[in-house]
Amino acid sequence: MPIVKADRRLRVGIVGLGQIARAAHLDACAKARNVELAAVCDVAADLVDAAHRAWNPKAAYHGYDAMLADPLVEAVIVATADQFHVPLTLRALVAGKHVLLEKPMGVTVEECESLRAAVEASDSVVQIGHMKRFDPGIAYAREFARAEIGDILAVRAWYCDSVYRYTMTDNLQPIPIGSAASARPDADPRSDRQRYLLMTHGCHLIDTARYLGGEIVAVRGRHQHRADAHCWFIETELANGALGHLELTVPVRGDFEEGFRVYGSEGSIVGRVYLPWFHKSSEVECFSTRDRVYRRPLGEDAHTYKLQLEGFADTILDGGPQVGANVEDGIANTRALVAIARSCAGGEWVRLDAVTGGV
Ligand SMILES: NC(=O)c1ccc[n+]([C@@H]2O[C@H](COP(=O)([O-])OP(=O)(O)OC[C@H]3O[C@@H](n4cnc5c(N)ncnc54)[C@H](O)[C@@H]3O)[C@@H](O)[C@H]2O)c1
Repeated sequence: MPIVKADRRLRVGIVGLGQIARAAHLDACAKARNVELAAVCDVAADLVDAAHRAWNPKAAYHGYDAMLADPLVEAVIVATADQFHVPLTLRALVAGKHVLLEKPMGVTVEECESLRAAVEASDSVVQIGHMKRFDPGIAYAREFARAEIGDILAVRAWYCDSVYRYTMTDNLQPIPIGSAASARPDADPRSDRQRYLLMTHGCHLIDTARYLGGEIVAVRGRHQHRADAHCWFIETELANGALGHLELTVPVRGDFEEGFRVYGSEGSIVGRVYLPWFHKSSEVECFSTRDRVYRRPLGEDAHTYKLQLEGFADTILDGGPQVGANVEDGIANTRALVAIARSCAGGEWVRLDAVTGGV
């Protein structure tokens, strides 16, 4: 079907033209009904040239300040390494731009808190790229949990990345192109694999668990590294009194498996989440004791990166309530990641409001 674009479209610039921009954000800008790709930006000239040729933005920049000075650009997607997220978002706020910021929000509790203060002092919308909230199955589960399930009693969520993940994603994503000129953090984020896996996958797991089950107050985790696999088992205490458990295993010698269960006083939810690159809605079954019926949404449009961008643009263009993860969510997720790391190191319960620093 041809893509129908709205008359008024949010003019978006992307900073960072690496893997996630190529696999998700450029395509999302082209397909989102209410967005126009105004500009692309990377310090790597070859990545800028490739994106310019393939996606035909109005402008292409090699410097971030030049893109921020472009009055046509109303909002920025920050798609760079985690270590640059907060600094680049702060600069965008000074320039009066809205920001869709890739997850995780930042790498330390303190820098995330500093971004909260800057957002509060601005007129900009800042949304964190927890795009799974826009998976139609997860969105349905969230609404069911809010409206139908009664008191939440227990929440389980798991994220098990497959040993064959890259075989699968290589077939689904554009061929990666790296650049020797890309800007990278001083220390390679992947050199500490335990930290990297917790940050990059754990933040999805935590955000989905919080979105469906409620705020996490404290965690007690165990981590094991055997046979080149990292496994975290994490007990969670929730503000609503529910029991919780999270599992992150990377990699499992089997299929990618992500899912959740939520038990309530009036119903229950079971969900199976697919790799986002399939653009396939989670399979979610919601049972209500009210009519003793299971409900299962189809969710035919599950391009979560496009849907999160459309939601972001709706908020800015219509002035409606913010959808998706906001700065408070980003801070809570970062605190949870740090608390899990601390607890796994010390073996004790760790409260999220007590942690400082990074993972
Ligand atoms: N939501 C998801 O499912 C998902 C999936 C993968 C990655 N991510 C996130 O996306 C982010 C980017 O990951 P990636 O693998 O694409 O990284 P990448 O290293 O492949 O690409 C980042 C690009 O940003 C550019 N860059 C950095 N600082 C810049 C600056 N100041 N000005 C201009 N360009 C700059 C670099 O040159 C590089 O080309 C990470 O935070 C990661 O966690 C999210």
